[in-house]
Amino acid sequence: MYIMSGYHRLRASLVLLAGSVVLFGLCAQTPLKAQPLEPLNSPIHRLSAEHCRECHREIYNEWAASMHAKSTALYSPIHEAMYRREVGDPRQDGQTTRNGAFPVCLQCHAPSAAMDGRTKLDALPVYGEGVTCVTCHTMKSYQGIHAHEGGQMNLGIKAYSFSEVLQGPSGRVFSTRFIPPPPRGIEAIVPTFHPFPMEGNAALLRSADACLGCHDQRNNPHGVPLCMTGAEFRQSSTFNCQQCHMPVVDGRVSHNFYGGYDTAMLRRSVILTMQAAREQDSIEVNITLQNMLPHNMPTGAPFRNAFLRVSAYDSFGILVWANFRQHPLPEDPKAMLMLTLVDEDGKPAPPPQAKAIGTDTRLQPHESRDFLYQIPAQNVAVVRTELYYDLLLPAMKVMFDNVPDDLKQARVIAKSEQRIY
Ligand code: HEC
Ligand code: HEC
Ligand code: HEC
Ligand code: HEC
Ligand code: HEC
Repeated sequence: MYIMSGYHRLRASLVLLAGSVVLFGLCAQTPLKAQPLEPLNSPIHRLSAEHCRECHREIYNEWAASMHAKSTALYSPIHEAMYRREVGDPRQDGQTTRNGAFPVCLQCHAPSAAMDGRTKLDALPVYGEGVTCVTCHTMKSYQGIHAHEGGQMNLGIKAYSFSEVLQGPSGRVFSTRFIPPPPRGIEAIVPTFHPFPMEGNAALLRSADACLGCHDQRNNPHGVPLCMTGAEFRQSSTFNCQQCHMPVVDGRVSHNFYGGYDTAMLRRSVILTMQAAREQDSIEVNITLQNMLPHNMPTGAPFRNAFLRVSAYDSFGILVWANFRQHPLPEDPKAMLMLTLVDEDGKPAPPPQAKAIGTDTRLQPHESRDFLYQIPAQNVAVVRTELYYDLLLPAMKVMFDNVPDDLKQARVIAKSEQRIY
């Protein structure tokens, strides 16, 4: 049951008396956050999520903890590290990419700032909020990222047309609210109009179109695809993104948007099975990874990666064998699930400079892949396989020294263990 604050009860009764005009006035005078908010009669793309918080508290809290709310260089250390290298200072206007253009990054990572052509992301609260309420809830229609034949891609906000009116999955603008009894209010069921005009737009908001403008594909300046969740997804799926990324929680649509930052979400991505059997003087270990997703695992940013760690222990629990010591990248490349971008000589290159895709060993949508390891059998009592997920590749962890250590830590997302007799 939704519990109204005193402020809301007051507002709701005023709505009854005088309609939503009064409500606008009240909202505007309420100090919600230290940094002054744009007044409510501002263009809708400048309305901060703070204006939605009072009535959509759970959704606000989920969104505020999500990577959408941390999608700018002000709040994601990994994004900041890369943005400063590729563009510049997120707190200054007039920043450009290396070829002098407005930073394309902001079309997806800071949509309201991009709409205003600003690069000073702390100029308004809504700029720093990144992918915020009014970003998704004013998208009216989706043209796709290839709307201009042969021309430049329409990325992020350029892939959509926007409305001056909020867009909701049903357009529900009228609800009845229970007002709790005294001392703090009167017991009543009160009809409430939405404080902002609202239209129904299920066709967009209940389909992958609501996501693909930013999540379809992005190329670097040399035309090399860096992120391609949309392309991966189209080969394989009849699901929409919302079924997994916006599940129903407590009777409403979750706005957590869990992905690579959330270990519980990652654990649901792959089924790992292992059979280990003694064969004369070795132990044969058969491992299968089954990708349960309609997109690659890992998907998204080109530096997301995963790897298998296979290890064997004696009956005292002491490690007697492992497929790598430091990192599988040089020691056991087949254990790596990663995208390799290369320069013109076929040598590994960072995303902005890459000229081609080298190899792509990430699990394809729904792919099932087998791995075979032979372990020398001496003293082996237990065999263990773990699948690790890593937000960054090893070289980037060294390069990005300001990124906190916990974001540089690979996490176990699937595991199987077997006793050997
Ligand atoms: C004064 C309270 C209040 C404020 C402020 C408010 N909302 Fe709502 N909103 C509601 C109520 C009441 C509903 C009706 C459904 C419900 O009970 O959740 C609703 C429903 C919605 C819906 C779903 C509509 C549909 O199609 O089903 C969306 C989307 C939404 N609000 C977005 C926003 C956004 C974005 C903001 C901030 C710009 C905002 N709201 C501010 C009270 C409010
Ligand atoms: C306006 C652009 C935009 C739209 C629209 C958008 N996203 Fe995102 N999304 C982003 C950006 C930018 C990030 C990266 C944030 C970061 O890590 O810096 C992101 C991150 C994510 C993540 C990763 C979270 C993590 O833990 O790494 C998921 C999952 C996600 N979005 C799902 C969705 C879904 C589902 C939709 C559609 C309902 C959607 N997004 C719509 C821009 C968008
Ligand atoms: C990345 C895009 C995105 C962002 C950001 C976003 N929403 Fe939503 N929201 C959606 C989509 C898509 C749906 C409809 C999902 C469905 O019904 O399948 C939705 C549904 C809703 C609903 C209806 C909930 C229900 O259970 O029917 C409300 C209310 C809402 N959003 C409010 C907000 C508020 C408030 C914010 C900011 C704190 C916000 N949204 C941020 C994409 C977004
Ligand atoms: C069957 C459930 C499912 C569906 C459908 C699905 N995803 Fe995912 N998605 C996941 C899981 C689980 C993960 C975590 C594993 C991973 O990163 O691949 C994930 C990860 C992600 C990430 C995180 C990447 C990162 O770098 O952190 C993004 C972005 C994403 N999905 C976008 C989408 C989009 C866009 C769609 C629709 C086109 C979609 N997903 C459809 C389950 C799903
Ligand atoms: C087409 C939309 C789009 C554009 C343009 C874009 N990105 Fe992203 N970016 C995303 C999405 C979506 C994600 C998150 C999901 C994923 O991993 O794909 C992301 C993730 C990232 C991440 C990982 C963030 C984290 O929290 O781990 C970095 C870093 C990044 N982008 C940097 C940039 C830079 C720098 C630019 C501009 C040169 C840029 N991006 C342009 C959509 C975009």
